[in-house]
Amino acid sequence: MAATAARLMHAVQYEGYGGGAAGLKHVEVPIPTPKKDEILLKLEAASLNPVDWKIQKGMLRPLYPRKFPHIPVTDVAGEVLEVGQGVTNFKAGDKVVALLSHASGGGLAEFAVASESLTVIRPPEVSAPEGAGLPVAGLTAHQALTQVAEVKLDGTGKQTNILITAASGGVGQYAVQLAKLGNTHVTATCGARNIELVKSLGADEVLDYRTPDGAALRSPSGRKYDAVVHCVTGIPWSTFEPNLSEKGKVIDITPGPSALLTFALKKLTFSKKQLVPLLMSAKKGNLDYLVKLVKEGKLKTVIDSKHPLSKAEDAWAKSIDGHATGKVIVEP
Ligand SMILES: NC(=O)c1ccc[n+]([C@@H]2O[C@H](COP(=O)([O-])OP(=O)(O)OC[C@H]3O[C@@H](n4cnc5c(N)ncnc54)[C@H](OP(=O)(O)O)[C@@H]3O)[C@@H](O)[C@H]2O)c1
Repeated sequence: MAATAARLMHAVQYEGYGGGAAGLKHVEVPIPTPKKDEILLKLEAASLNPVDWKIQKGMLRPLYPRKFPHIPVTDVAGEVLEVGQGVTNFKAGDKVVALLSHASGGGLAEFAVASESLTVIRPPEVSAPEGAGLPVAGLTAHQALTQVAEVKLDGTGKQTNILITAASGGVGQYAVQLAKLGNTHVTATCGARNIELVKSLGADEVLDYRTPDGAALRSPSGRKYDAVVHCVTGIPWSTFEPNLSEKGKVIDITPGPSALLTFALKKLTFSKKQLVPLLMSAKKGNLDYLVKLVKEGKLKTVIDSKHPLSKAEDAWAKSIDGHATGKVIVEP
């Protein structure tokens, strides 16, 4: 019988849609048991993503969450405590980073069960908060840049002009750093208070989104963008259009109805300029690659704030507020 069976842990959950931070409840629940191909982790850090509170708001119903009560959050770092049947690549004591499933969540707790297929080793050079920041935000930035913008992160490939909107956010901060591993010129947008930070991440030019040039997304050096990693909402196609190169693509990671309409229209009219909606599809190899970049000092996680699990609602409110600089971390 597993050593942890029937023992209780502290967790934070919600029991229905809505309620924001006030909808989170602190509970004692049984420590989960790892099934086949699963790993039980003692969590050291979890990071929030906007999708976590969007699921609570009911924006992804009926897909997520699978059931109530739901312990939210998917991006975690911790130590392997126990492995389920069939797990061969991990053993008790290994330090790891994992992406939990959005359907079952589990990250706002002292322990969580991860799938072996989305768990990677975390070397000692990568702290738990740095590692926990990576899964959703890092993989999204990586996918947008490598799969759609076709940036080669080994620095080979033709020179590409990239625009990254909300470069101070969870996805944007990784996107700037990853883009600069390739042969790119990066223009970035953020609020005035984060301009120096975004420059320090490698952006070649930075626009304050509250100025007229920033709102127009106009490159100070007059460049036209080959790809836009678009991490905010509410910017119409007419703002992007004059700033794109002949075959420029806007990679929209939060496509709403008007973006989907633009996507369809551009396809149907064989437009060279395209809007590409992107939904992150997690790959273990890519997560491993991101962790290695952090180990090598080529990528860092900008941390907005760290909150103890006992104050998880503060972290939740911070993420909902939409003004985090980098990742919001919860530590059990
Ligand atoms: N498709 C997918 O698979 C996928 C994956 C990950 C995320 N997403 C979505 O992508 C979006 C971004 O995620 P995130 O984790 O990066 O969010 P986040 O960390 O909450 O972003 C917050 C940052 O955005 C900045 N910001 C807000 N409005 C801006 C504007 N108009 N121009 C420039 N910067 C602005 C804020 O700066 P100030 O504080 O200065 O305002 C803040 O630093 C979310 O909607 C999320 O749900 C989608």
